Amino acid sequence: MKASEAVRAYSNLALVKYWGKKGEQLPINPSISFSLKNCYSETSLSLNKEMKRSFLFDGKEQPEFLPKADKFFERLLNRFKIDIPKNLIISSRNNFPHSAGIASSASGFAALSMAINQFLELNLTKNELSEMARLGSGSASRSTQIGWGVWGENNFITDSSDHHAVFLDSSIINFNFRKLNNAICLVSKKQKATSSSLGHDLMKNHPYKNDRIKQANQNLGLCLDSLKSGDWELFSNVVEEEALGLHGLMMSGERGYTLLEEASWVLIEKIRALRNQGYRVCFSIDAGPNIHLIYDPKEQEVLKYLELWKSELGIDYISSGVLDE
Ligand code: PMV
Repeated sequence: MKASEAVRAYSNLALVKYWGKKGEQLPINPSISFSLKNCYSETSLSLNKEMKRSFLFDGKEQPEFLPKADKFFERLLNRFKIDIPKNLIISSRNNFPHSAGIASSASGFAALSMAINQFLELNLTKNELSEMARLGSGSASRSTQIGWGVWGENNFITDSSDHHAVFLDSSIINFNFRKLNNAICLVSKKQKATSSSLGHDLMKNHPYKNDRIKQANQNLGLCLDSLKSGDWELFSNVVEEEALGLHGLMMSGERGYTLLEEASWVLIEKIRALRNQGYRVCFSIDAGPNIHLIYDPKEQEVLKYLELWKSELGIDYISSGVLDE
């Protein structure tokens, strides 16, 4: 076995959010995301001469990543009967800044799964590859392909599954949504105080769990309707409800916590104001304080506002783009 070529997987942004697990990394509700073309991970694999595993990030040994990788490999053994070599060297890099507060688990586990598939010549199907990535991190199931990924069983997509994501045929997406753009406004570059794993865990006994599952299913239906019809208003309403709903769940359960910061709220209000003025913009938020500004690329003035917020508020941004094929 020789070193694998570096394989690339793109990060994704969920519009309807996966929040809460059941069983082995299965979602309690369906989610939908799009790929971010300027945020990717690249991973290659090789074998150590010594009998030990190594994890290199940006060329530097990072032993603290090994326990997570080992847990993932244990799941691969159980599910796929794949025995990962004891002397594997994983070499990975992200093209987005390490400390930008952007979750890299989606692109990271997707790239690692694709690299394993290539290195061990497994010839996995697309669904199996997505399922493999899911065992590392749920959102990674939506990063093994480019485009609009839907993960989790639902009534709207016939071959949907809790085990892997399926990807929408881009011809069903209205022209207005084929070239969306996205900028990540970097409110904080700090490591999150509360991990997503704990957040998923707290959903097990969350008082709003059943209503949340109902809401996510409804929102997936509405989101798909808006993508097909090109209804920007409906799309923005659903995406913003999901963003704030996610943070509402974090704040409201037992051992509630807050990830949004003062500057997150400032930006939310600024984006709302632009929306009220008729700009085709809206916001989404992941499990952190950063604000994703989603916009129609025809809205060139948005760039002016992003620059203004950078100079006036000191909030930098990354143009993460949205992949359209
Ligand atoms: O894949 P995880 O376990 O890091 O969870 C991701 C959760 C969200 O990013 C908040 C939502 C999502 O669907 O990606």
